[in-house]
Amino acid sequence: MSSSDPSLGWDRVATRFASLRSDTGSDVVQHWAGQLPPGGSIVDIGCGTGWPIARILADAGLAVSGIDPSPTLLAAFRKTLPGAPAACEPVQTSSFFGRTFDGVVAIGLLFLLDDADQHSAIARIAGALRPGGRLLFSAPRRACHWHDTLTGRMSRSLGEGTYRALLAGHRLDIVGMPVDSGGNDYFDAVARRSDR
Ligand SMILES: C[S@@+](CC[C@H](N)C(=O)[O-])C[C@H]1O[C@@H](n2cnc3c(N)ncnc32)[C@H](O)[C@@H]1O
Repeated sequence: MSSSDPSLGWDRVATRFASLRSDTGSDVVQHWAGQLPPGGSIVDIGCGTGWPIARILADAGLAVSGIDPSPTLLAAFRKTLPGAPAACEPVQTSSFFGRTFDGVVAIGLLFLLDDADQHSAIARIAGALRPGGRLLFSAPRRACHWHDTLTGRMSRSLGEGTYRALLAGHRLDIVGMPVDSGGNDYFDAVARRSDR
């Protein structure tokens, strides 16, 4: 991890982020939720306040957990989903990856990490998915970088080609690339069931 702040600036802007968070992405997540096994276990990495993403997943009957290194945002998550397992941890060191899930969702997270941490996060996520499990994450399809308007920090998409190769290296195949109503790109990948 390259920063002394494990939330990469998000705890400092948490209140503002929570007030600005729209329901962007709800359409894609709602559709994805319908493809998971009823009652399946999902971890939302970089869960923020839990609204709208984790809320949608829970309302779809899935067993949702959340991890986020921002204490302020994780406290909000606990209010959104009282009783849901939650941990104030970054993806790089989270203890949740000792478990297995039917699905992992990471909206607005991966591109916050530097290249090495994106690589290791994908490896950790792949290791936590059961065969046939699904990963949904958002990132621009095109390799690019930009300054996040709230934190001022650099964000970077590795782009479709690199994500596809990285995922395949961890036995995850892209099965869809949805775009939400706000024009944001997503990668929907499934963990291989057997050697192919
Ligand atoms: C753009 S917000 C998205 C929040 C939520 N997924 C949503 O869609 O509303 C990015 C989130 O990633 C969290 N985050 C930052 N660094 C992280 C890390 N290393 N591991 C896990 N989450 C992280 C932030 O605290 C923040 O909640």
